[in-house]
Amino acid sequence: MALAAILAALAVAQLAVAPAAFAEAPRFSREPAVEQRIDALIQAMTLEEKLGQLTQQWGSEAQDVNPVVTQTKRDDLLGLIRAGKVGSLLGAHGAEYTNMLQKAAFEESRHKIPIILGNDVIHGYRTIFPIPLGGAATWDPQLIEQESRVAAIEAAACGTHWTFAPMVDICRDPRWGRVAEGAGEDPVLGAAMAVARVRGFQGRDLKAADSVVACAKHYVAYGAPEGGRDYNTVDISMQTLHDVHLPPFQAAVRAGVGTLMSSFNEINGVPGSGSRYTLTTVLRERWGFDGFVVSDWSSVTEMIAHGYAADQADAGLKSLTAGVDMEMSSFSYRDQLPALVQAGKLDEKVVDEALRRVLRVKFAAGLFDDPYTDPAIAEKVVLCAEHRKLAREVARSSLVLLRNEGGVLPISPEIKSIAVIGPLADSKRDPLGTWAAVGKADEVVTVLEGIRARAGDGVTVRHVAACDVRGSDATGIPEAITVAYDSDMIVLVLGESEDMSGEGHSRSVIELPGQQADLARVMQATGKPVVAVLLAGRPLAIPWVAENIPGVLFAWHPGVECGNAIADVLFGDFNPCGKLPITFPRATGQIPTYMAHKNTGRPPLEKERYTSKYIDVSWTPQFPFGYGLSYTSFAYRNLSVSPRELKADGTLTVTVEVANTGARAGAEVVQCYVRDLVGSVTRPVRQLVAFEKVQIAPGETKTVTLSISAQSLGFHNWDMKYVVEPGEFKFWVGDQEGTFEISE
Ligand code: GLC
Repeated sequence: MALAAILAALAVAQLAVAPAAFAEAPRFSREPAVEQRIDALIQAMTLEEKLGQLTQQWGSEAQDVNPVVTQTKRDDLLGLIRAGKVGSLLGAHGAEYTNMLQKAAFEESRHKIPIILGNDVIHGYRTIFPIPLGGAATWDPQLIEQESRVAAIEAAACGTHWTFAPMVDICRDPRWGRVAEGAGEDPVLGAAMAVARVRGFQGRDLKAADSVVACAKHYVAYGAPEGGRDYNTVDISMQTLHDVHLPPFQAAVRAGVGTLMSSFNEINGVPGSGSRYTLTTVLRERWGFDGFVVSDWSSVTEMIAHGYAADQADAGLKSLTAGVDMEMSSFSYRDQLPALVQAGKLDEKVVDEALRRVLRVKFAAGLFDDPYTDPAIAEKVVLCAEHRKLAREVARSSLVLLRNEGGVLPISPEIKSIAVIGPLADSKRDPLGTWAAVGKADEVVTVLEGIRARAGDGVTVRHVAACDVRGSDATGIPEAITVAYDSDMIVLVLGESEDMSGEGHSRSVIELPGQQADLARVMQATGKPVVAVLLAGRPLAIPWVAENIPGVLFAWHPGVECGNAIADVLFGDFNPCGKLPITFPRATGQIPTYMAHKNTGRPPLEKERYTSKYIDVSWTPQFPFGYGLSYTSFAYRNLSVSPRELKADGTLTVTVEVANTGARAGAEVVQCYVRDLVGSVTRPVRQLVAFEKVQIAPGETKTVTLSISAQSLGFHNWDMKYVVEPGEFKFWVGDQEGTFEISE
């Protein structure tokens, strides 16, 4: 674990090197033999065939079971493929079906160029893992790499060559529905998760039958929409763009990601799918990326609605020349660009360069060697016991214990009856969360099923849904009260259904929906010991629950092994170790609130009226980034740093002892934060610079060493120059703090 975390941190640390000095060695353009084959293909292809390779369309409609419609659609699709009109499909699943599509390209088209088949394999293919926000709560890059490896194995066995993941958008506004899909608010944790997922999906050999090409998305700053409203305007400073939103993408490029996906949103007036600055100047000229960029779904032609393109031809021209190589699910490249080339408005060399990038990745993925899938593999790997076991491991590591007053958890062996109350307790679909690929609800272990299985025959477990997830129906609450009074304890299962987060599913408020808050009050009023398990695709504002329910376990949408993972923690078979990857506000009105905020000239003071705070809620978060409890306790001692003074090209070594002062083994995420006390632009009061997750036995003390490059402490100044400025820094690890200095 340590090595992976350090490697990830180092990968991140080196991100911040001044962009110009960081051009990553190209990865996909280094094979002369491949370049020659590409030259020959380009030489032989017509303009229409070239643009066909830059076109991706939906490919599942010919998969339906209706023989009449299917055959017609299948003939149409196969005709397009044979004619070289489409270079990629998304939405096609299953070895037999995809092999049939592939044959039309690889054996029956003029140039025998294989199609590349993409799908949204975000947190599992059929074995569904926690939503990525939950995955980030593990703070365990090695575990998340294993998860993505399993996702790749299953997806590849079913014909997928390319996944539209990892989603690496930094988000500090949990109203945004797609916060569920990323790694939260922080660029260092986000970059570590991006690296882990790229490595897991692409494996050690991109040509291996169980590797898939990864796709870092959505490039860039899609996670910062005004109002948290999906697809909305993004207007941020160039410093924030470079210091917060770009680093996870740079980490993914550094890790060798094969593709990126350009975003729907505008960035300061220029849509992500038309921005030459981000797509070419930053991505290719500074970072040296030589894979390819695919647009998001119709994000090219949506530039007309943005008011950035006059029509489809203008949109296609602007996207292609900005650096979007393949157009997803709109057809301006295929249908509009030939005329522009003929009219001399578009140099065919631009088309050739985009085509070269796409073909390089197809070669790198081994598709020209063997683009077919062995149908015999899927039944051996899909949802196999080993994969379910890993899903349980990731899920239980993602659970964040937010409160445990009076030791209400783990559940005592004296408890002989449990009331499992709440609308999500026995839900099969919601634990899979958003973007659940081909996961199946009937394969999910619900919270109720997990508790029943673990409690065993000697414990009576009864369930009442009591109310809906949303809406005003609370007719089941009286029955819940009766069952609660008749039980030794209550496990409340509350939160959001899976369709309350994800694409196009932003919320204007993040409080508990429907009658759930009232249900919590009523259950607490019974006087029985109560534990709340919260399922959600985002942080929730739960001030009353957080202050009045003794046990609170945040479970995100934990995937197919939901109930088993939650029971493992509730009954103490697993010591919770999750830490929040995103700040939990007390109220929606506090948004945005996040760890790496600025101090302002009037930082909030309790007794001072005219300071930066609210009159109706504390300025502090309900639960901060990086927070999470354990069933044991840890003490931090003997923090040291060496050297205490270093140059801008130096490296700090931070060392701290962490003791497990409790009675049971546990994992602790050791986090190091810094504050640059004075800068030429203001600096965050606390920013994460390194972390490491360590397992510590009861009574054991471990010495943890974190390596931090001075370069990673730099930032983009007012003139947009990356600088590491001299001066004093404070730093924290646990409850310990110290100082160091960067000198001229
Ligand atoms: C969607 C999403 C993107 C996804 C793509 C293909 O609109 O924005 O994340 O990969 O379309 O499904």
